[in-house]
Amino acid sequence: MSITINKNLKKDIRLLLKKRNAIMLAHNYQRDEVQEIADVCGDSLALSQSAQKSDAKVIVFCGVHFMAESASILCPDKTVILPRLDAGCPMADMITADDLKKEKENRPDVPVVAYVNTTAEVKALSNICCTSANAVRVVNSLESERVYMVPDRNLSMYVARTAKKKMEWWNGFCPTHEKLKPEDVLKCKKKNPDAIFVCHPECRPEVIDLADHVCSTSGMYEFAKETPAKTIIVGTEMGILYRLKKENPDKKFLIASKSLVCPNMKLITLEDIFEALETMDRIVKVPEEIRIPAKKALDRMLAVPRD
Ligand code: 13P
Ligand code: SF4
Repeated sequence: MSITINKNLKKDIRLLLKKRNAIMLAHNYQRDEVQEIADVCGDSLALSQSAQKSDAKVIVFCGVHFMAESASILCPDKTVILPRLDAGCPMADMITADDLKKEKENRPDVPVVAYVNTTAEVKALSNICCTSANAVRVVNSLESERVYMVPDRNLSMYVARTAKKKMEWWNGFCPTHEKLKPEDVLKCKKKNPDAIFVCHPECRPEVIDLADHVCSTSGMYEFAKETPAKTIIVGTEMGILYRLKKENPDKKFLIASKSLVCPNMKLITLEDIFEALETMDRIVKVPEEIRIPAKKALDRMLAVPRD
């Protein structure tokens, strides 16, 4: 796309957003040009919460399907648009509501903690949700000795390292984070001996073992600002580099592996956003019978006190 067309399209999208009384939200892994024109960039839950606070009637959610569902769960009176309805999350799709029903039958008294990267149906069957930022706090807030966590085995294993619970989990994983191997990190560290390594808890345990700091995407922005280190090796989807570099021009950020690209997060283009705003037909709406129990699980998470 030529620079002029791109520039006009960005302007046209902003005009159309105004005309539709819409707010544009972009996840931290979206394409740079999408993050550049969004009203708010952030992690999946923070984005849904900004949607809730906004007066806009329409939410253009540039992320993946479960994130647009979370916005619909929290904002039932707003129209939620996902510019590419085929942008899914393979990890969220690794467990279905039927799978979870069977798991619950096997452990009837064990509370289920659902990572926000789950479908609305799975959230509706869970006791409480968590994000990668608050998972340990959420798990420790439960009275039960035993906890069952879905769908990410890596996040669950990470939580199990510190939480004071007997934990079991579903064997799902993020195909993007799973691609990062300890060898990639060690190679990068060897080339940059002064660099520190920060990674997302969706990474494999062998990768987490090599990390100086493990945190959610939002945690990475905070960490990058605070750390005295000048070179930071990043172990998460590479879309995060856009704001990390912009917000910390005096620091150097290196992606731990070129394979850290989530194809679903890269689906939404500026053209898709423009078309979606013109047609207003790429809507995600969670039905009330699923929305109400799913919201309960999200609300319980939001009620867990901060440390
Ligand atoms: P966040 O919850 O940090 O936005 O991460 C979502 C995600 O898809 C991580 O792979
Ligand atoms: Fe899902 Fe992984 Fe992509 Fe995040 S990075 S949306 S967990 S597939």
